Order: sequence, then C-alpha cells, then structure tokens
Amino acid sequence: MTILKSLRNSTFTASAVFQGMLSVHSQISLCKAHSISKQPLSSGQSSLRVINSNKRKLVQSTAFDSHQCSTHSFSVSAKMDVENSPPPSDRCAIITGVARSTGIGRILVHHFLKNGYKVVGADVKELELKVTEGRFEEDPIVKHSADRFYFVRADISDPLQAKRIVDEAIEKFGGAIHVLINNAGITNPMLAEENRIKAFADTIAVNLNGAYYMSQCVLPYMPAGQSSIIHMASTRALQSEPNTEGYAASKAGLCGLSHAQAITLAGRVRVNAVLPGWINTDPSGDAALRPEDHEWHPAGRVGVPNDVAHLCFFLCDSERAGFITGQEFVIDGGATKKMVYPE
Ligand SMILES: NC(=O)c1ccc[n+]([C@@H]2O[C@H](COP(=O)([O-])OP(=O)(O)OC[C@H]3O[C@@H](n4cnc5c(N)ncnc54)[C@H](O)[C@@H]3O)[C@@H](O)[C@H]2O)c1
Repeated sequence: MTILKSLRNSTFTASAVFQGMLSVHSQISLCKAHSISKQPLSSGQSSLRVINSNKRKLVQSTAFDSHQCSTHSFSVSAKMDVENSPPPSDRCAIITGVARSTGIGRILVHHFLKNGYKVVGADVKELELKVTEGRFEEDPIVKHSADRFYFVRADISDPLQAKRIVDEAIEKFGGAIHVLINNAGITNPMLAEENRIKAFADTIAVNLNGAYYMSQCVLPYMPAGQSSIIHMASTRALQSEPNTEGYAASKAGLCGLSHAQAITLAGRVRVNAVLPGWINTDPSGDAALRPEDHEWHPAGRVGVPNDVAHLCFFLCDSERAGFITGQEFVIDGGATKKMVYPE
C-alpha cells in the first residue's frame, strides 16, 4: 500500500546522507570545546530547591533520587504563572536526538536558537556539522556554540546518562529548563525472528524509557506554569506495517505517557505528544521523491522538519498554547485521514 511504502521510504530508516560532514578530527575538537563531562555522578539522595527564573515562585522537590531520576512530593503552586513567563532569551530548552545535521532534532535546535532560546542538544552519536563550500562556520550550532548552544553526548536509555544531560545543562545555563523535547528515537525493524525480543526491548528502552528518564530528571528544574514537555511520537502510534511492533508500541506509549504526565503535572508543566507522518529529513534525497509521493498527501506534499519545528515551538509557548496539555498532534499532511482501499 502506498502509505506503507511512504513510511518505509522515510529517511529516518535510511542511513544518514548529509550535505557534508566534519572530519573526525574537527568533530573531536568540537566535542572538546564543549567540555563534555565524563565525571561520575554522585550517588544517593539529595534535596533540591529550585527557584524559578523570575525568582518569585519556589518549586520544591524533596528526596530527588539522583540514581533513579525520580521525583517525589513536589510542592508546587496550582496556579499557572504564564503572565510571568520569561522572554525566549531567558528560556532554556533541552532537545534530544540532534546529531544528524538534517534530522528533525537538529532543525528543532536551529528553530529554538533562532527564536532566542538557549539550547542543550543531546545524542548518543557525535554531532555532524553542515559544511557549506568547505566551511562549517555557518552552521547555526557553531555560531551559537559559545553562548547559547551546548552539546552533551549521552545515551538516554541509561538513567544516569539522562541525568548527566540535565546536570550539564544546569551547570552551563543556570537553574531553569523551560522546554524538554524528547525527539531521540530508533526504528530497529524486527525482521529476524531470533532478534525479536531484543529488538523490541531495545526500541522501548530508547524511545519510551529514555523519554521518561529525561522527563523525570528535568522536572525539578522546570518553573511552574512556564514549562512544556513534548514527546516526539509518530503516526506509527496509530497505524502499522508488519514487523514494527517495538517502534509502534514505543510511539503509542509516548502518547499514553503524555496524557498521564499532563495530569500528574497539572498546573505545573504542560505535556503533549507530536505525531509526525512522512517527514523528509534528507534534502539531498528530494529528487528521489516522486510527484505522486507529494500528491498522495491531502496537503499536496511530503513533510519537512520545519513543519514539525513550527508546531513544537507553538506548543512550547506558554501564552499562546497555555490551554493545551495532554494532547496528541498528528502532523502528516492529512495522510492518516485518507481512506485506503486495496490496489
Ligand atoms: N522522519 C520521519 O519521517 C519521522 C516520522 C515520524 C516520527 N519521527 C520521529 O522523529 C524523531 C527524529 O527522527 P529523524 O527522522 O529526524 O531521525 P534521526 O535519526 O535524525 O533522529 C534520531 C536521533 O536520535 C538519536 N538517538 C538514538 N538513540 C539514542 C539514544 N539512546 N540516546 C540519545 N540519542 C539517541 C540518533 O543518534 C539520532 O541522531 C524520532 O523520534 C522519530 O521516531 C520521524
């Protein structure tokens, strides 16, 4: 069926092809420039008191277990503090899954930087930089690396590494994190029978567990009424092709996680899921898209990462999107609303 082909064609499953890559040496230099911490985490219980960025409201977290990344008994105001929400230049976002220079995560980083945010990007892989005419200086993350962008290399499926991302973000940019976008994900098709159990577990570990760990670690630093979590799900949460149980279950799980957290964190943090359809994250592969690929979508085209970035940015705006929490936003050019008959 066309939709299955479309989903299979998604560049998320393909190996990354970029405009250009930094040499290994340059990547290592950038990594060093960002002072990636390899220090072990302190263990045990600690008590955190985080004053939000406008210094008015106290957000307390007691007994934050640094190993478990879990939070217990928050003392928070039920009143949303939208009117005191700081301007974007005083806001900080953590975005996971940012390594690929043309991936959704990286375009999210560009979008939030362009709109004034400080951004911490995290990925299990090293950063790729876009090279234009032999130079990488024009890449937005290089331009902002000194003051408004920071990269942490870490595996979010490990709670300790998830906590390290948040610790380094706080160390770099101060005491508040207003936005978390759990964008990192793997597809891991479950084709070989003998690998199915492992493939399923690995996919859930990154796509679902990792998103939960990141949320739990970041919560003590989120100012009440000014903060937003977005889980990057997929239309695969709603429809499937064969052998995608792990991916589909993880993405549907993110939808459940979103509404559960929205209720748990009511009055404090808004939590929503974004469900992209076919997003072409390989600009150099544009030529491979056929006219019928675009026409098949009711919107008349295949999606691009900027479509997702615009939606996410809107959802993180406490003023404009302050009445939106616990919801699922399909962004697929209308594809999932199209009736499909046998060919
Ligand atoms: N591209 C699409 O058509 C599409 C459609 C629906 C949903 N999505 C979702 O959007 C997100 C971004 O997809 P993309 O297409 O830009 O692909 P991408 O490969 O550029 O992004 C995924 C990133 O997550 C990182 N990652 C994987 N495991 C990790 C881990 N354990 N810890 C930290 N980082 C890890 C990868 O290294 C990669 O950089 C994914 O969650 C994907 O499921 C994409």
